[in-house]
Amino acid sequence: MAPASRRDEDPVLELLYGWQPARVLMVAWRLNLFGLLGGRRLTAATLGRKAGLHPTAAQRLLDACAAAGLLHKGGGRYWNTQATREDLLPASPRYLGDAIAVADDLWTQWGGLLDALRSYPQGKGLGGPATTETVLAYVRANGQRARRDREQLALSLDLRGRRSLLDIGCGPGTYAEFLVLRNPGLKATLLDLPQVLAEARRELAASPVRRRLRFLGRDALREPLGSGYDVVLLSSVLHTLGERDCRRLLGKAHRALASGGLLAIYEELAQEEGTWPPQAALFSLQMLLSGAEGRAYSAAELEGWLKGRGFEQVRSRLLPPPAEAALVTGLKAR
Ligand SMILES: C[S@@+](CC[C@H](N)C(=O)[O-])C[C@H]1O[C@@H](n2cnc3c(N)ncnc32)[C@H](O)[C@@H]1O
Repeated sequence: MAPASRRDEDPVLELLYGWQPARVLMVAWRLNLFGLLGGRRLTAATLGRKAGLHPTAAQRLLDACAAAGLLHKGGGRYWNTQATREDLLPASPRYLGDAIAVADDLWTQWGGLLDALRSYPQGKGLGGPATTETVLAYVRANGQRARRDREQLALSLDLRGRRSLLDIGCGPGTYAEFLVLRNPGLKATLLDLPQVLAEARRELAASPVRRRLRFLGRDALREPLGSGYDVVLLSSVLHTLGERDCRRLLGKAHRALASGGLLAIYEELAQEEGTWPPQAALFSLQMLLSGAEGRAYSAAELEGWLKGRGFEQVRSRLLPPPAEAALVTGLKAR
């Protein structure tokens, strides 16, 4: 039997080196090792030649991939696991390439964590994604996540009788398109910053409900949103904004709704103490690091802001897996 690793027994040690397999994954993906393997079983020398690596370098990396559970190894050959075939081969509908590109970008940002903390609040963090291509990778990664949990959102949001939806900060537009697909009487207006909206247009060019989608390239905080909508959706937008902008945007959403209209906020929420779930605490740190004002908010904070704006029947509930987020809803008084 293989000797147990001390890291399994000591949570501090485990955390201390927990980044190594993640880095192995990012680098192996950058080198396209999973794509080069595809459905084949190859040696380190063959794979190294295809990836432009010395056989020894290839073998070290491939062994680390196998140790991390990312590849199988047997008889000197390596092959993809079921999970890597599903998540890391570009032809798969579950392909996570853009999410890995985002993780790679965050890797660089998190290298500056100490400086960002020490210079706060004078320093403005490191800024967001470095290039337009990285911004678009973030947008497409949102679409990949949305394709996994859009069913839960559609099941949890009763839109019967609703005819018009405004999706503010729509990203790739995955949720709005799916809600329109699931609700035959519904049309959607997709609103985001112009650069991001261009990506949504591209993503949805061949959508079967394309004629029921309208695109608005706008800054939601500074430009008009329109009015008379039956539903306003704000999915994963508030956590990118500071508290003042959140309140401002909720006020604009309220004005954009028809009377009796529904506001639906879909967000990963933090519990009151800010330490659970762990990804919420890490996300809030990430926002500080990148110089953005946002953070993960709690259900009580969002509910308080909605009630303060005059929304009625304000409710929050966590959606079932694979969704990791909660739905906070409120109605505009009639
Ligand atoms: C984390 S993404 C969420 C995208 C999508 N709603 C989803 O849930 O997958 C946040 C989105 O809000 C958009 N956004 C942020 N500030 C905005 C503003 N002032 N006006 C319009 N869109 C904005 C960003 O461009 C980005 O697409």
